[in-house]
Amino acid sequence: MRLIQHKKEAYWFYRFVSLGYDDYINPFFWNESMRAEALELAQLDRQDLQVVDVGAGSGFTTEGIVEKVNAQSVTMLDQSPHQLGNANKKSALHDCQKLQGDAEDLPFPTDTFDRYVSAGSIEYWPEPQRAIAEAYRVIKPGGIALIIGPLQRRNSLARWLSNTWMLFPTDDEYTRWYKQAGFSNIQKVYVAPNWYQDETNQYAIAIAGVKPAAGESPIKLEPKQEDVGEAMTPARWLAFSYRFVVGTVAGAFFVPIAMYRTLQEKLQRLRR
Ligand SMILES: C[S@@+](CC[C@H](N)C(=O)[O-])C[C@H]1O[C@@H](n2cnc3c(N)ncnc32)[C@H](O)[C@@H]1O
Repeated sequence: MRLIQHKKEAYWFYRFVSLGYDDYINPFFWNESMRAEALELAQLDRQDLQVVDVGAGSGFTTEGIVEKVNAQSVTMLDQSPHQLGNANKKSALHDCQKLQGDAEDLPFPTDTFDRYVSAGSIEYWPEPQRAIAEAYRVIKPGGIALIIGPLQRRNSLARWLSNTWMLFPTDDEYTRWYKQAGFSNIQKVYVAPNWYQDETNQYAIAIAGVKPAAGESPIKLEPKQEDVGEAMTPARWLAFSYRFVVGTVAGAFFVPIAMYRTLQEKLQRLRR
């Protein structure tokens, strides 16, 4: 399993990343046009839709949701209070309900929401299949669940670095998890920032599916493996420290690369 694809590690990673997430990190990887294209799949076609945004963080994707849906109907859930604290400062998100919680164990009754959205969070989930089964459980029959996440890199160095850091699933894995959770009418689009120009390897996927019938997901899973509040034994401390430090360094490589490629792409556009 990847270094930061663990709940406690991701929690502490975002303790620090949240300090610069909106200004220095997110804009290079996930922008407004990608968000608009991906959210199309969620069919946010009524203002009164009940929507949950899981791994909502500081609310960049939620800001796209509240352009189409009343903020009072939107619930933001994240395991990081530091990320939700940043969301709290945004006036457009003032009326959204904000909850600390786990994507793999959602604190909502079955058949609650019309839409489930999660952007850029699957990378950190130790059991993506469990979280996708939870997405299925909490939406109403006929509801739509949309997940946006990165795709496995083909370039061997990029693949090694990204896989060291966190989960970059294949296209087939996303589809399999959706099918096994019980979703029907599965749709996909591929999104990327302007600086990413590798046509042989898609950057990120937005995948959506419809819940065909009321109730829980038909998939049966073993008990949950991780909890952010789990007790820290000496062995767990050791594993945590190693994963956190090495995982953070591996993750940090991506930021200057994306900044450089963004600048390069902007200069190329100016010269044209
Ligand atoms: C890259 S940020 C994405 C934030 C937001 N969706 C956006 O569009 O900017 C990933 C978020 O997932 C959250 N996260 C990671 N693991 C989680 C889990 N198991 N349950 C809930 N949130 C989680 C992190 O705390 C972080 O805020």
